[in-house]
Amino acid sequence: MNKSRSRFMIHLAVYLFCFVVWSPFVTADNHASGSAVSYHAQIVPILKRSCQGCHHPGDPNGDLIVTTYAHLKRGGMAGEAIIPGKPDESLIIKLISGDEPAMPQNMEPLSAEEVELFRRWILEGANDDTPDEVDDMAEGNYPTYTVPPVVSAIAYSPDGSTLAISGFREVLLYDTTNFELKARLVGKAHRIESLTYTTDGKILGVAGGSPAQFGEIQLWDTATNTLIKAMRSSYDTVYGLSFSPDASRVAFGCSDQTVRVLSVADEKELIKFDNHSDWVFGTIFSTDGSHFVSAGRDTALKLVEVSTGSFVDDINSSNKGYGEINTIARHPTEDQVLSGGEDRIPRLYKIFREIQRDVGNTDFNLIQAYEAQSGSIEGYAFSADGSQFATGCAGGEARVYNVEDGKRLASVQGDAVGVFAVSFHPHGKQLATGGFDGKIRVFDTASGKLLNAFMSVPIEPAGSEDVALVVTGMT
Ligand code: HEC
Repeated sequence: MNKSRSRFMIHLAVYLFCFVVWSPFVTADNHASGSAVSYHAQIVPILKRSCQGCHHPGDPNGDLIVTTYAHLKRGGMAGEAIIPGKPDESLIIKLISGDEPAMPQNMEPLSAEEVELFRRWILEGANDDTPDEVDDMAEGNYPTYTVPPVVSAIAYSPDGSTLAISGFREVLLYDTTNFELKARLVGKAHRIESLTYTTDGKILGVAGGSPAQFGEIQLWDTATNTLIKAMRSSYDTVYGLSFSPDASRVAFGCSDQTVRVLSVADEKELIKFDNHSDWVFGTIFSTDGSHFVSAGRDTALKLVEVSTGSFVDDINSSNKGYGEINTIARHPTEDQVLSGGEDRIPRLYKIFREIQRDVGNTDFNLIQAYEAQSGSIEGYAFSADGSQFATGCAGGEARVYNVEDGKRLASVQGDAVGVFAVSFHPHGKQLATGGFDGKIRVFDTASGKLLNAFMSVPIEPAGSEDVALVVTGMT
């Protein structure tokens, strides 16, 4: 049992202890007061079922909001709808009771028992007994899994000692010598879409977010495994994180069709590039950091100047029907970008144009198009020396190629369903894959031999005492 696991068990034990010791008192207390009406357990379910459909924050006509206790207490146009201790003076009771109740509007009235629950709850003081949200993933309080999570990102640290893997609300760090789980980096973002180390290995950058809520970039100190900062941006999950060469800036793609560049020091948004016409999934910086390249669903590979944030060039000929781009990667030392996606063909481009565009819009920057993959391309990685690259594909295959002559060096089954992420060990002899089935597989790149396969997260048996977070798939 490793350290983090035992810490989890201690928390579980404390939790169970509290439950056993305190629950008799709670019950006794309830009985003594004739069992008070619980807002959380009895009123909220009725509000959710019969009222929330019209009285929620997104409804432009709705004045009263019932989705939180604070809103409900505040009331609507007519002022407070609830006067604690005085049900007969409370507007809400007037509206839900009587022969033809006004609320819920045009719907089946609440039952007499339900109206009575509201009345008693208000008479007893209209108290809020909502339990504190168990949202604080403090150290030791790790997410638990009853089903394997989809792995959307993996990355070897530049020194090769660590393999970082995306989980639900966390990044899991494995020791590459024995593949033991050595640390868990828990944050607020539910989804982790992208993992990337700075070249010096001192910072692990994480991009993700909570769908329809916020995007988040987390920077973790790799020496201490502590969060340096979490930067919020956009209102949705963000993708394709990259660091500028000096690590002073981060770029990432957004579902609102923008690419954003933030300054790491003061978290200021330096660029909000809006020249794409669909979701942006990938960003990379040029080797000198003067430009970035972005790509996504609109099939375009765009070159942008960092100092001005202005569009410079379309790197590919996006009128050729190449399909949506899911992923891009930069050659470790050259200004070359590999793009791939829907049409299964890896294409390597020069980032900077050397030949003038012609009327036929020839793919002038193209260095090489490689053989078609067995499924749409979901993940890429270059080896540290830049001599090879790997692909991860829908269908579960992963392949390794020579960059120079395009020769296929290995072809492996990296996942049962689909590989979403690949990473080369810095010594170049091992490739790790992750994808839909939640397993990490490590292959020998020369022979294609499977060296190791393990579940990316500890799986709890279903029905365990702790809260089970059911993990959903990626987009
Ligand atoms: C089908 C839509 C609908 C449903 C369902 C509904 N309401 Fe309403 N409610 C309205 C509308 C429309 C108004 C008048 C506009 C307003 O005040 O928001 C209103 C007004 C109210 C008001 C007065 C708010 C104010 O502005 O002062 C209260 C209190 C209220 N509703 C309570 C409820 C309760 C409690 C339920 C559930 C048991 C409920 N409503 C279900 C549509 C609905």
